Amino acid sequence: MPVTTPALQMDSVSHGGPAASGSRYYEEFERSRTDPEGFWGAAAEAIDWFEKPHKVFDPDAGVYGRWFVGGVCNTCYNAIDRHVLNGRANQAAVIYDSPVTGTKRTITYSELLQEVRTLAAILRDFGVGKGDRVIVYMPMVPEALIAMYACARIGAIHSVVFGGFAAKELATRIDDAQPKVILTASCGIEPGRIVPYKPLLDAAIAFSQSKPSACLVLQRPQLAAELTAGRDHDWAVLRAQALKSGRAADCVQLLATDPLYILYTSGTTGKPKGVVRDNGGHMVALKWTMKNLYGVDPGEVYWAASDVGWVVGHSYIVYAPLLHGCTTILYEGKPVGTPDAGAFWRVVAEHKASVLFTAPTAFRAIKKEDPEAKLLKDYDVSHMRTLFLAGERADPDTVMWAERILDRPVIDHWWQTETAWAIAGNPVGLGMLPIKPGSPTVPMPGYDVHIVDEGCHELPANTMGSIVVKLPLPPACLPTLWQQDDRFQESYLTEFPGYYKTADAGFKDEDGYVYIMGRTDDIINVAGHRLSTGGMEEVLASHPDVAECAVIGIKDTLKGEVPCGFAVLKAGVSKKPSDIEQEIVKLVRDKIGPVAAFKIAICVNRLPKTRSGKILRGTMKKIADHETWAMPATIDDPAALDEIDLALKEHGIGS
Ligand code: COA
Ligand code: AMP
Repeated sequence: MPVTTPALQMDSVSHGGPAASGSRYYEEFERSRTDPEGFWGAAAEAIDWFEKPHKVFDPDAGVYGRWFVGGVCNTCYNAIDRHVLNGRANQAAVIYDSPVTGTKRTITYSELLQEVRTLAAILRDFGVGKGDRVIVYMPMVPEALIAMYACARIGAIHSVVFGGFAAKELATRIDDAQPKVILTASCGIEPGRIVPYKPLLDAAIAFSQSKPSACLVLQRPQLAAELTAGRDHDWAVLRAQALKSGRAADCVQLLATDPLYILYTSGTTGKPKGVVRDNGGHMVALKWTMKNLYGVDPGEVYWAASDVGWVVGHSYIVYAPLLHGCTTILYEGKPVGTPDAGAFWRVVAEHKASVLFTAPTAFRAIKKEDPEAKLLKDYDVSHMRTLFLAGERADPDTVMWAERILDRPVIDHWWQTETAWAIAGNPVGLGMLPIKPGSPTVPMPGYDVHIVDEGCHELPANTMGSIVVKLPLPPACLPTLWQQDDRFQESYLTEFPGYYKTADAGFKDEDGYVYIMGRTDDIINVAGHRLSTGGMEEVLASHPDVAECAVIGIKDTLKGEVPCGFAVLKAGVSKKPSDIEQEIVKLVRDKIGPVAAFKIAICVNRLPKTRSGKILRGTMKKIADHETWAMPATIDDPAALDEIDLALKEHGIGS
């Protein structure tokens, strides 16, 4: 049932950008709707094509149509080679800033080209060519970006796996992508702890059916990894040899519709979804966003404080800034603790970043440590024009705090791994619209966003429903899931025929501003990281003493949400419940990884259910979140909810 939202705080705040009426947004959006081919055809002029596309959009190709069909291009060429040829050879392409290792390094466009050509040649020596998959399991070091571009250069499809995932998760991705080669490092560095990657990689390869023919290991000085004879190779040794013998690979010609990468993201089961990204549409859309959405010019410094393992890292650390001729910052550190809550201000000031893009949770962490932003006074952040937030709901408190301390616009924008760029945002380059706290503003050109009920009927303004996007999706959005057209159809296109299901719920107000209120599936958002509670339940259920389980996301002041697991033990289990709780926590960490931030497991005698046997996760969440809740009419035994309330209280959670 649609729910009409309560009265919302709708004070519009203008930030000195052009007034709404002066923005070109409305005409550009309308043009993208009425003449999508004209709109995206014009945007495609900013890309160098070996051969221009025959068609801007072909509705008969792919699952729902394909962009730039027949176009021949190369992403690496557009992001690196052409800038070297066009006068940016000595401009910084990448600034690596790593407080966790005490290292800083600037790589110019011509140096980057040299590194990428060399690694591409090394990959080719291992038989990697067009269409082959390469997994990149690396920390935030420049070699991760170099690896991605080396793949793009020779048409190999990279699949980056976030370093905070455990061996099992890596194994699932290895089995799905079947990589010829895996690129990794000896370790990652978390504050106060070195994370050895090689044991995780070895365990993942042991678990997986598909075996890579070679692994390249970047040995970091903090921890050397032991190499497996016959399979593992020392990255630096191969690099030195290739440089000495002058080996370098040129850009291969790829179709716009050829895949650039696969990025796995949480689905509603333990099996992640392999989101496919193409070359042509991805370049066109990302390049368009740099000026029109972010208001950035070539030559400026752009900083996305994320990780290359996430979509934000792919799009706005690795690809978009370089496609636009900017300098990108690759930051190996945290917003707090490396060394303090002034870390972001230092990086912005030192490298003169024009834009900072991060997740709200990072700002919540800074606010918690330094509520008066005293550390900000030590730095000159005057180059930074705008702060962009995404990855999770930007709570108005945090947005307003950031606006107050920075005295510049804070722009929330909403997107998904599937889309690669913002579905809704405030287009600074087209002329900023008034900001409404709690809203990521308006749909971006190409996204025809609707709010619908279960029967796919349009809902009126300020009425909550499912958020869907009319097909076709704009360039850069996923054309399908890796080798799973059927799962793509079923997960995204079937429930609302003719539309892409975002699986987010929310509403639009009378001005067309979008509000994202939560997910309609089992996905939770932990510190901006997307995780499936269904996947965690599979792990809990694998514990030998667990008969039944449920995992919910509960509110957390820092991370937005954290998972909380409930387990009903098998009859006759004699172990202490508190021991089993600890084992469950360890199991999730071992199987999914520390990134799941799974720290709360609670053993209960039974789970609250409806008479038809459905677990009442929604009501359990309300109890844990101190929200008012009503007894579901269909509940089997109301006392089961009281038991959950009590169990939560015993663990220091709930009302
Ligand atoms: N490799 C190995 N472990 C990792 C990791 C990596 N790349 N990234 C995170 N982890 C570990 C952390 O060390 C932590 O382990 P712990 O349980 O032993 O403490 C765990 O995974 C959870 O990490 P995280 O969620 O990052 O929490 P945190 O407490 O370390 O830091 C924040 C909290 C808010 C500072 C941090 O989450 C942050 O900077 N978030 C920004 C969000 C972001 O970049 N989102 C991407 C989308 S824009
Ligand atoms: P990911 O695929 O990891 O980028 O996560 C995508 C999901 O994060 C979306 O479907 C939303 O649920 C949530 N999300 C991302 N950005 C925002 C935002 N600005 N506001 C609210 N939710 C967001």
